[in-house]
Amino acid sequence: MPFTAKILLLGSGELGREFVISAKRLGAYVVACDAYDNAPAMQVADSREVFSMLDGEQLRSAIETHQPDYVVPEVEAIRTEVLAEMEAKGVNIVPSARATQLTMNRDAIRDVAADELGLRTSVYAYAKNLEEVRAGAVKTGFPCIIKPVMSSSGKGQSTVRSEDELEGAWDYAVANMRGDRQRVIVEQFVDFDYEITLLTVRHRDGVSFCPPIGHRQERGDYQESWQPTAMSDEAIAQAQDMARKVVDDLAGDGGGYGLFGVEFFVKGEEVIFSELSPRPHDTGMVTSVSQNLTEFDLHARAIMGLHIPELIRARPAASAVILADRDSETLSYSGLAEAMAEGADIRIFGKPTSRPYRRMGVALACAGSTDEARRIAKDAAGKVRISYGD
Ligand SMILES: Nc1ncnc2c1ncn2[C@@H]1O[C@H](COP(=O)(O)OP(=O)(O)OP(=O)(O)O)[C@@H](O)[C@H]1O
Ligand SMILES: [Mg+2]
Repeated sequence: MPFTAKILLLGSGELGREFVISAKRLGAYVVACDAYDNAPAMQVADSREVFSMLDGEQLRSAIETHQPDYVVPEVEAIRTEVLAEMEAKGVNIVPSARATQLTMNRDAIRDVAADELGLRTSVYAYAKNLEEVRAGAVKTGFPCIIKPVMSSSGKGQSTVRSEDELEGAWDYAVANMRGDRQRVIVEQFVDFDYEITLLTVRHRDGVSFCPPIGHRQERGDYQESWQPTAMSDEAIAQAQDMARKVVDDLAGDGGGYGLFGVEFFVKGEEVIFSELSPRPHDTGMVTSVSQNLTEFDLHARAIMGLHIPELIRARPAASAVILADRDSETLSYSGLAEAMAEGADIRIFGKPTSRPYRRMGVALACAGSTDEARRIAKDAAGKVRISYGD
C-alpha cells in the first residue's frame, strides 16, 4: 500500500480536518467518520464513513472493516467501551482507551486529578438530584458553576449566584446533558486572573510543552485565543508539572502518545487544574500560525512514533472565531478580502449547515505583540460575512 499508516478518525470537525492534512503530509491514509456527510475533515480525507460515534455496533464494525493502525478520536462523545474492548484486542487507540473514557466524564477525570494525583482543583461536589445540588452548593459557596458530567462546549452549564437559582440550573443541566446519567458537578466559581491551555505532547522521547495559550470564553465556548500568554516561570512550572502527571496517568494500557490540551485557571501564583482534552484543543487553532509545528502536526507526529523537538516556540499570534447566527442549509461567505487587508488569515471550515453560535471559521493573525494580533484577528473575524439563502 502506498501509505505509511492507516488512520480511522472518529469525528470530522474543523480540528479533525487540520489533523487529516498534517497526517496526510506524513503519508497517512485517513478514513474520516462522523454522523453527517460532508463534514469538514471528510472533505480532505481519503475516504469516509457516516455513522454516529455513539453507536457501538457501527463503531466496532468500522474498526473491524478498516483495520486501522491508529484509531484517532476527534470528539468526546464516543461509545468508549468499544474502544476499550478494541484496545484489549491490540488496536491502537489514541492516546489510549483510558484517556477517552476518563475525559468523557467530568467526574471520572476530576476523581483522578484531585484524588489520585493530588492536583489542585476548584472545590466541587457531585449531585444526582436537586437536594444533592443544594448540599453541593453549601460546600462550594456562591457563586458556583453547575455542569452536566457529560457535556462539552459549555452545554448545560450555568453560573449560580444564590440559593434560589439552583433549581433552574439543575433543570437546565439535565435538559442539556449528553447520555442517560443524570449527574452534575457543582464547582466553586474560580475568580481567576486568566485561564490557559497548555498543549502537552506525550511522545516516544518523553513529554514536551508548547508555550501557554491564553483564551477568552463566552457561554462556555471559546471566542479568542492568543499565544504565548504572559505567565511567571513559577506558574508555568506548576502547570507543566500537573500536565505531565495527568498525561502520564492517562496512558493506561495504551501507548498514551499524542497531544493533549490541558486547561488551567491562574490566580496570582496559584495554578488550578480544570480539565483536559486528549487531542488537539479548539483554543490551539492559533498554533496554525504561531508555531512552526502546529498542534495538529504534533499530534500526528507523536501518534506515529516520530521525533518531537524538545523546545517548541511560538511567535505572538491570535485566533478569533467566526460564528453563525441562525439555522441554514444554504450558506455562502463574503468579505474575505477586507478581512485579510491587515494581514490576517482566514479559515472557513466548510460545514454544510449552520445554527446559532456554530463555529464556521476562524481568523488568525501574527503581529509584534499578542495584543496587536488579537485586535487584527478580531477585526478580521468581524469582516467575514455569512449569507443565509433560506
Ligand atoms: N469553576 C469555574 N470557575 C470559573 N470559571 C469556570 C469554572 N468552570 C468553568 N469555567 C469557565 O467556563 C469555561 C468552560 O468550562 P469547561 O472547560 O469546564 O467546560 P466545557 O463544556 O468542557 O468546555 P470546552 O469543551 O469548550 O472546553 C471555562 O473555560 C471557564 O472560562
Ligand atoms: Mg474546557
